[in-house]
Amino acid sequence: MRKPIIIANWKMYKTRAEASAFCQAFLPLIEGQEKVEAVICAPFTQLDVLASELKGSGVGFGAQNFYPVAEGAFTGEVSLPMLQEIGVQYVIIGHSERREIFHEDDSLIQQKVQAAYAAGMQPILCVGEHLEQRDNGQTVSVCSGQMLSAVEGLTEEQMKTLIVAYEPIWAIGTGKTATAADAEEVIGALRQAIAEKYGREVADCVRFQYGGSVKPENISELMAQPDIDGALVGGASLKPESFSQLILYK
Ligand code: 13P
Repeated sequence: MRKPIIIANWKMYKTRAEASAFCQAFLPLIEGQEKVEAVICAPFTQLDVLASELKGSGVGFGAQNFYPVAEGAFTGEVSLPMLQEIGVQYVIIGHSERREIFHEDDSLIQQKVQAAYAAGMQPILCVGEHLEQRDNGQTVSVCSGQMLSAVEGLTEEQMKTLIVAYEPIWAIGTGKTATAADAEEVIGALRQAIAEKYGREVADCVRFQYGGSVKPENISELMAQPDIDGALVGGASLKPESFSQLILYK
C-alpha cells in the first residue's frame, strides 16, 4: 500500500520566527494523525528551526534545492552533506520554478536525483507542462520525458521509493487546478510509463503527487483518485489551519 504523502513547499516565504510560530500552531492541529506522511520543505535558513520544532512530531522536513556535489568552489550553493548535518531527509528536485527561473535542465536534474539517492535522501521529483504544451496535446509526452530522463540509471529498488509530483505549470499559484480527472489521467499515464520501463511491481510502489492550487476545497476529490497518492502544496501550506485541513482530508 502506498502511504499518502502531503508536502508543504513554502517556496521563498517565512522568516525563522514565522516558521517557528507555524509549527507551534500546526502540530497540535494534526496531533495523533498517522494516515498521511506530512512534510514541510522550507528555505535553507529555516531548516534548523524545523529540525528542533518538529522533533518527535512525525512531521518530516526537507529542502527545496541543493547542488549535487559534496563540497567545492560553488559560490552560493548548499550540498547534501550540509543538509544532512541538520537532519534534512527530503529534497525537492526539478520544480518548474527552478527549471524556468534558474534554467535547470534535464541533465542537472538527473545528477541531482542520482546524488540524492547516493546520499540516502528522499527526492521529490517534479514534472509539469506549460499551457501551450497542454493545448497541443503534449502533456504526457513532456511529463514522461522529464520523468524518465531524471530517473535514468536508478536501480529498481531506488525506483520503488521515488516520489513524483505532477505540477502543471499553468496551475501553479494561479488558482486554476487541473480537475481531479485531468490530474488522474496524466498521473495514470506516468505510472504506466514507469510500468513499461521498469515493470508493474515498481510502478505500483512509486508515489505520485499532484501540485497546483491544491486547497482544502479540492484535496478530497484529488486524493480519491486511484493513482494520486498525495499533494505538493504552495499557497495553502503557508497557514497552519489550511495545511492541517489538507493533512486531515477525508
Ligand atoms: P500552489 O499550491 O501555490 O499553486 O503551488 C504549487 C507548487 O508549486 C508546489 O510546489
